[in-house]
Amino acid sequence: MNFEQNLMEKTAYCENVLHTYLPTVDSLEGSDRCAGVVVDAMQYSVMAGGKRLRPLFICETCRMYGGRQELAEPFMAALEMIHNYSLVHDDMPAMDNDEYRRGLKTTWVKYGEGMAVLAGDALLNYAYEAALKAFDLCRSAEETAAVIKAMKVLSRNAGIYGMVGGQCADLEAEKKPQETDAEVLTYIHKHKTACMIESGFQIGAILAGAPCEDVEKLGKIAENIGIAFQIQDDILDVIGDSEELGKLTGSDEKDGKVTYVTMYGLEKAAEDVRRMTDEALTLFDSLEMPNAFLRELIVRLITRTK
Ligand code: IPE
Ligand code: IPE
Ligand code: MG
Ligand code: MG
Ligand code: MG
Repeated sequence: MNFEQNLMEKTAYCENVLHTYLPTVDSLEGSDRCAGVVVDAMQYSVMAGGKRLRPLFICETCRMYGGRQELAEPFMAALEMIHNYSLVHDDMPAMDNDEYRRGLKTTWVKYGEGMAVLAGDALLNYAYEAALKAFDLCRSAEETAAVIKAMKVLSRNAGIYGMVGGQCADLEAEKKPQETDAEVLTYIHKHKTACMIESGFQIGAILAGAPCEDVEKLGKIAENIGIAFQIQDDILDVIGDSEELGKLTGSDEKDGKVTYVTMYGLEKAAEDVRRMTDEALTLFDSLEMPNAFLRELIVRLITRTK
């Protein structure tokens, strides 16, 4: 099977897992139907598509270390739900004020701002409800311990020491661009984006019982890939194709953001995406467990156009 076919099948699998875990309006019973609109908004934002990279990373690192896929599934769904909540809130007028995502109107445009806040809240909360279901699937004390460890990684990387911290610094930087230096920008990229990628790379390996040194290494690999991923996102915001991206380009400029492109220029930005990915690949190749598909996926992120 070639890479593209493989990617399509694995992405479809991630979608299926999400489908299984995400509540639908039809599943609501009795007075719970009062929550129908928010559940509809959750479905709208999550099922609009997307590359599903973070669950793919969990699935692939779990496979790499011979783990049980069933145990990874609640975490695949949970991480993608947290990612989607972050996007729903990120698009709101109080943050980036964007009207398109994944080729559709953003959640706040379609459902109103209040409902978009709630849809984000609901996704974040449901993510933990989903992840906790992994405990019911454990077959040994080792697996239970691994699930606890995975929960810690999931929650820490999403919060103030992770994505929320990065989004906080991103908003602050918008108010004082002149104080946004290289160190601040690296903090922003690492936290708002790389931390969630780190969860993807580490959780699958943890659930599969990978050695601590490898989990550490995977964290470092993910940090590089995550920062490179955000640099490429900044590049695409300038030179990408809105149709293909599914979101309007020029959003960062509209918001007066300091990005990797405004700080270093397009050429160095592209160079650094390659350099950081190469560093990640060198470390990836030093792991004893090969995963040719995941390696190829990492390579392709360098030249991604969406
Ligand atoms: C978008 O993430 C937000 C960033 C961290 C740059 P993705 O590019 O992974 O978005 P989807 O999930 O594929 O839509
Ligand atoms: C978003 O970064 C990172 C998140 C944590 C949501 P951006 O604001 O650059 O992402 P896009 O360009 O809106 O997808
Ligand atoms: Mg943003
Ligand atoms: Mg944004
Ligand atoms: Mg962006």
